[in-house]
Amino acid sequence: MSSRSRSSVVVEAKAGARKVALLGAAGGIGQPLALLLKMQPLIAELSLYDIANTVGVAADLSHCNTTVKVTGHTGQESLAAALEGADLVVIPAGVPRKPGMTRDDLFNINAGIVKTLAEAIAKHSPTAVIAIISNPVNSTVPITAEVLKKAGVYDPRKVLGVTTLDVVRANTFVAEAKGLAVQDVDVPVVGGHAGITILPLLSQTNPAVSFTEDEAAKLTDRIQNAGTEVVEAKAGAGSATLSMAYAAARFSESVLRGLEGEADVYEAAFVESKVTELPFFASKVRLGPNGVEEVLPLGKLTPFEEKGVADLIPVLKKNIDTGVEFANK
Ligand code: NAD
Ligand code: LMR
Repeated sequence: MSSRSRSSVVVEAKAGARKVALLGAAGGIGQPLALLLKMQPLIAELSLYDIANTVGVAADLSHCNTTVKVTGHTGQESLAAALEGADLVVIPAGVPRKPGMTRDDLFNINAGIVKTLAEAIAKHSPTAVIAIISNPVNSTVPITAEVLKKAGVYDPRKVLGVTTLDVVRANTFVAEAKGLAVQDVDVPVVGGHAGITILPLLSQTNPAVSFTEDEAAKLTDRIQNAGTEVVEAKAGAGSATLSMAYAAARFSESVLRGLEGEADVYEAAFVESKVTELPFFASKVRLGPNGVEEVLPLGKLTPFEEKGVADLIPVLKKNIDTGVEFANK
């Protein structure tokens, strides 16, 4: 059977209609993420923006025979064109960690980068869903929210810190530890995206699986320090890029499926929240036509997890306050 006649019995996929802007597109995350988004059928245009090298990346990607149209934009003066009409803006712009650094050590550089990009988004794509990867996420999300508030265009349903990599890692490590099929495992991860603010709720793992106290403590520690594991293995050459691109592609697809009106689309994200006393918190959210349609509660916690929440709250509060203060200074 020829490929033509074979395809005649297949229902053709509807061509994508969405514009996605990727800011920081020429970087370690940006490039593999751009490749994965070039293969995403819900996207009509993939707009690549960076301060350097974007035109080459766009030319290279544009030769892949998928339906997504790729445009490249380099430098501040092309930011408006990169953003105009975007349904989703994904931001991996900024510097990554080197061994010995915490994510907070990136604040001085990345806070300013994210603030500038958020100001441009407020102006040129104020209704887009914004997915923030740039660290420290615990602070860059509040910065973005404050910038949008000042511009009068803040919609809390549309500002999301990407914590998918924590879930991806938790799923992988739990599947390995328990001999489960990795594609079937779902571990909720809540809190934030740094150190002890990353809190896997192992007791809520799906499919149900039990852990000894020692197993839970060791797995929690590994999930909390998995970013550092990669930073150390890369020995100065940056932090997680490929697994992050994979996680962000999954997250972007979920946001787009939600925008398309698909029901029951869930991801973890660091969002404005009433789940705890803090104004922002990562937990599972239901995605829909407006972005975050529902922030899910934490559910029943073990004493170990309750302590994890209590311990992370002051740390996360400080990260959030730092972001808010920076944006308003
Ligand atoms: P990288 O240095 O390889 O790439 C960053 C890119 O951002 C570069 O191409 C750079 O030119 C670009 N950039 C810098 N300033 C910019 C600006 N003003 N506008 C647009 N682009 C700009 O770094 P990376 O490995 O891709 O990591 C990027 C960020 O993502 C880091 O802050 C890192 O800590 C973070 N990160 C987050 C997660 C997460 O789970 N949320 C995971 C991995 C990495
Ligand atoms: C990660 O979790 O891999 C990222 O936040 C990058 C980092 O600095 O660890």
